[in-house]
Amino acid sequence: GHIPVHLHVNGQAHDLSLDPRVSLLDCLREHLRLTGTKKGCDQGACGACTVLADGERINSCLTPAVQCDGMEIVTIEAMAGHGLGARVQEAFQTHDGFQCGYCTSGQICSIVAMLAEHRDGRPSAETGDLTAPVVLTDAEIRERMAGNLCRCGAYNGIVAAVREVAG
Ligand code: FES
Repeated sequence: GHIPVHLHVNGQAHDLSLDPRVSLLDCLREHLRLTGTKKGCDQGACGACTVLADGERINSCLTPAVQCDGMEIVTIEAMAGHGLGARVQEAFQTHDGFQCGYCTSGQICSIVAMLAEHRDGRPSAETGDLTAPVVLTDAEIRERMAGNLCRCGAYNGIVAAVREVAG
């Protein structure tokens, strides 16, 4: 049977009735037509499907949509209007943080959450921008972004983009 689910996605409320086996990823892409979030492996291994749930990065392919009842979900579609997200997107363009672009939505969502996890640089509630620089070495950036694979190998550009936004 179907279960009622109340989702907030990019500031919009949605009342849905879903099979409990439907992943958040399929819910976003097929039920809400938000196709910016990509399906890579569908098994929690690549990070292409990363979105924010109450500010934390999650693999939406592994998360049943019904488990997100009442949560605030943010996807790539909202990042242009999010101070930090917009800056990360610009930095990706400046530093060639992508080639084919398939992993980019997940990379950007993951970076926004990763920077927000940092105690010194929490994004301000008003602007969504960092309140202080986040100091991370390249090795730390790579380690914290290890859940997001890029098959084109654009890692140097991705790290450079993070470094620009964090500092
Ligand atoms: Fe979810 Fe690969 S599609 S981790």
